[in-house]
Amino acid sequence: HTVLVLNGPNLNLLGTREPATYGRETLADIAGLCARTAEECGLVVEFRQTNHEGELIEWIHLARSRCAGILINPAAWTHTSVAIRDALLASELPVIEVHLSNVHKREPFRHRSFVSDIAVGVICGLGSHGYRTALQHFSQLLQKD
Ligand code: DQA
Repeated sequence: HTVLVLNGPNLNLLGTREPATYGRETLADIAGLCARTAEECGLVVEFRQTNHEGELIEWIHLARSRCAGILINPAAWTHTSVAIRDALLASELPVIEVHLSNVHKREPFRHRSFVSDIAVGVICGLGSHGYRTALQHFSQLLQKD
């Protein structure tokens, strides 16, 4: 099974971006963690990041025929994008939403998500470990088919 791991805007800056909130790990470190976890779990992972909403939406469209699930950290688009929500719904794939930081400890505008209520589950505040846990969950979920 292939799981598409999608990362939204500004996550390319991880490592130097607000390290008190997001830690010192880079996106490449997280990609490595996902690759190792996928190998352990018998999954194939495609790991991507974009700062362009339309590009993310097109990746979600293509996932429908190619992937078994989507792990997404939509970053700021979590709180703004009906278009990403609609694309995820159209994909008909199981979705797990991941955030590095605990969004519920932060500004009120981060407490609302356009994705959470259509996701299998949501993990936030566990840093990169959230990506690992989400992939382990996908491995269990997808073993059934
Ligand atoms: C984030 C949380 C979002 O509120 C924020 O806009 C991000 C990153 C996280 O991983 O903690 O860019 O998704």
